[in-house]
Formats: sequence, structure tokens, C-alpha cells
Amino acid sequence: MDQALEGVKILDLSRVQAGPSCSQLLGFLGADVLKVEDTEGGDRTRWELAHRDDQDSVYFTIFNNNKRGITLDLKSKRGHEILVPLIEWADIVLENFSKGVMDRLGLGYNQLKEINPRVIHASIKGFGEYGPWSEFRSFETAAQATAGLMAANGHEDGPPLSAPIGAGDSGTGLHMAIGILAALRQRDSTGEGQHVEVSMQDGLVNLMRIRLLRSLSVGTPNRRSGGMGWSGIPSVFRSEGGGHDDYVMIHVRGALWETILAVIGRSELIGDERYDTDEARGERGEEVREIIEEWTTQHSKYEAFETLANVGVWSGAVMSPEEVITNEHLIAREMIVDVEDDVRGDYRMIGCPIKMQKSPAVVKKAPRYSEHTDDVLVNMAGVSPDELPKLREEGVIV
Ligand SMILES: CC(C)(COP(=O)(O)OP(=O)(O)OC[C@H]1O[C@@H](n2cnc3c(N)ncnc32)[C@H](O)[C@@H]1OP(=O)(O)O)[C@@H](O)C(=O)NCCC(=O)NCCS
Repeated sequence: MDQALEGVKILDLSRVQAGPSCSQLLGFLGADVLKVEDTEGGDRTRWELAHRDDQDSVYFTIFNNNKRGITLDLKSKRGHEILVPLIEWADIVLENFSKGVMDRLGLGYNQLKEINPRVIHASIKGFGEYGPWSEFRSFETAAQATAGLMAANGHEDGPPLSAPIGAGDSGTGLHMAIGILAALRQRDSTGEGQHVEVSMQDGLVNLMRIRLLRSLSVGTPNRRSGGMGWSGIPSVFRSEGGGHDDYVMIHVRGALWETILAVIGRSELIGDERYDTDEARGERGEEVREIIEEWTTQHSKYEAFETLANVGVWSGAVMSPEEVITNEHLIAREMIVDVEDDVRGDYRMIGCPIKMQKSPAVVKKAPRYSEHTDDVLVNMAGVSPDELPKLREEGVIV
């Protein structure tokens, strides 16, 4: 067994990001993921955002590595019939449709378990399958709005701000991956599958725990904390060059303050009660900024970061997304990898953040639209090769 999840079979009806990020991660760890797309062009991410002619958008490839892909019109009688042996094959059926879609397709959990009692139905919803908002559709920023993130983020006197991160989408995918693995573990002893549900709002509320602690405890009114936080202590400083992304983050708290002063050549301020506590530094935030920037503006963000990190100060060069994808450290850790693709041409991709000592992840290409339809239908769903042209003509497959 080369990979940890080898032999785990996922029938993946999911689209966009929340579901596909989950199945991709499990695919990195060795699961066999079979993605089913509609016959109307498939997952919308194939053509949205960074789309180039005759190429899938990177929006698609970034969330769909390590999968095979087929098309099937699940609303057609024959399409539905063809799916049945694939449900029998699967350990997991994953989807992130809006509430009610699976039932309308005749694929609700009750129907799935009649076909395969061992199957785990992994269902991602925007607001869940019960509760007053459960009928609503959702996507990243709706989750950010309703999980407290947007109201918490931003500058103190400005409007709520979304964060450019897939915390709602991929965060939900991560939670679902854990739910799936837990259900698999339970199935090992009971022999039965189950229905697992994760809502985007719930998943993001879970990731917001650290920001909700004040509401649960002291209960002070909300203040946005995208910049300096509540403390007033600055944490991001200009660095040499003064360019758009020339900044370094430095954690100017607790005992680290003295180490920082020593590194930046201001040891005479050690013990100076104007700056000696977090509260004092918060009250004199602008002075603290001036003291530190006198040094950081003489150094590149990488020099400043490495110098401080070398003596144990929590810090980080503020890297642009462009710098991230060419960063030597991330390349050394296989977080930026080159994927071989005979049709699209080899491409650069984000790797797997889980490093397994005995079974390292391998990042493989994402499927072309309908790439594996014939092979899967004939070899896994019992369709005769002679029937394929008719299915194509009738629009059951592409
Ligand atoms: C993402 C979302 C907003 C998209 O909304 P939408 O485009 O209206 O899609 P829905 O999920 O409501 O419906 C999908 C439709 O495609 C159809 N469909 C999907 N795959 C199909 C297939 N292979 N063959 C035939 N029809 C298919 C469904 O049957 C459904 O049709 P219906 O509405 O007539 O029943 C919604 O699915 C949603 O809220 N999902 C849950 C939260 C989520 O994951 N959000 C996205 C995060 S990245």
C-alpha cells in the first residue's frame, strides 16, 4: 500500500470549491476520486476566472487534481441507471448541491443506502440541512458575512471586509474530510455508512473560535481588527524599498520586545517604562512603529524576518501571492509543485500540506472534461461500448 487512503473510493458529485477541495485533499492522500459532472459544460470553475481558450481555468485545476472525470446527465433515466453501480462501488458519495437537489435526483441518503448500505453520504450545504436558514444557497463571502468574519475584519472606522481566503469554502472541505474519515473509521466496526453534513456557516464559525472568545466572555461590543487588533500594538512594518509589498510582520509583545530592541540596536530602551508592557506599547503604538521602522526600512523584508526569526522573534516577511508561488522554502516543502499534463502542458500547482512519512502525497493532473467517461462507463458501470454513441447522441454523456 503506497498511500494512506489507497482503496478508499469517492464518487464526487461536488462542484466549485467546498466539495472539490475536500475530495482533492483525500485524493492527495491516495483516495480514488471519480468526479461526475453535468453535460452542460460541467463544473463552472472550468471556465470561470483565469480561463484561457481551449484550456480549463486554473480555478478548476487548482481544486481538482488527483481525480478522474466523467460526465453523466443524472436527470435522465439512463444516466441515473448508470450511476447505480458507481454508488455500489463507492465508499463515499460527496456533494455540495443546495438543499433538496439530491432528493429531486432520487439520490437522497435513504435512496443511496438502499443501493449501498456501507456508503457514506457526505453533504456540504451553505446553511445546513436544518435550521431556519437551511433553504438558502451560499458561497464564500456569504459564509464570511454570517460567521462573524466580515464584521470582525476591517479597519476600525471602516465597513466590514471580506478576507481573500477560502476559509468558508476550503475550510468546509477540510471539516468534511475529517467527517468522512471519522465515518469511515466507524464503518470499520459497524459495517454501515451514514450521512455526514457540514454547513459552510458552521465550519467558518468553528474557525472563528479565537475571535468569538471575547463575545463569549467579556462581551464587549464588536470592533474590527484587521489592522492593529484591539491592542493598538503595531505588527506590520515598512521595509527597505518601500514597494507595494515591502513589509515585515513582527510580534512586538511580551518579552520579545527586549530581544527586538537588542537586534535593532536600541538596547537603551530596554526597561524604559514608556514601552515596557503590552499596554504601554499599545498606548504608544505610533512611537513603537517609528522605533522599529527606523531599522526595518534599512533592511529587506527577508533580511529583517530572517534576522529576527534567528533569535526567536515571531516574525514573517509579508509575501505577495506571486512571491509565495516562487518561494524556495515552499518549493523545498513540495507546496509548489510542477504537475505533468500531456494535454494541457505541464503546470505549476499548489501541493499537499499534509506530509506523510510513509506515504507522501503525489500531485497528479486534473481531468479534462469528460476525459474518463468511456473507460468508466464500460469498465465500472457495465455499459456496452456499442451503447456509447447512442448515449452521446441522446446527451446522457458528453
Ligand atoms: C453552489 C450553489 C450556490 C450553486 O447553486 P445552483 O447553481 O443553483 O445549484 P444547485 O445546487 O441549487 O442545483 C444544481 C442543479 O444542477 C443539477 N445537476 C447537478 N449535476 C447534474 C448532473 N450531473 N446531471 C444533471 N443535473 C445535474 C441538479 O440536479 C440541480 O438541478 P435542480 O435545481 O433542477 O434540482 C449551491 O449548490 C449551494 O448553495 N451549495 C451548497 C453550498 C456550497 O457548496 N456553496 C459553494 C461553495 S464553493
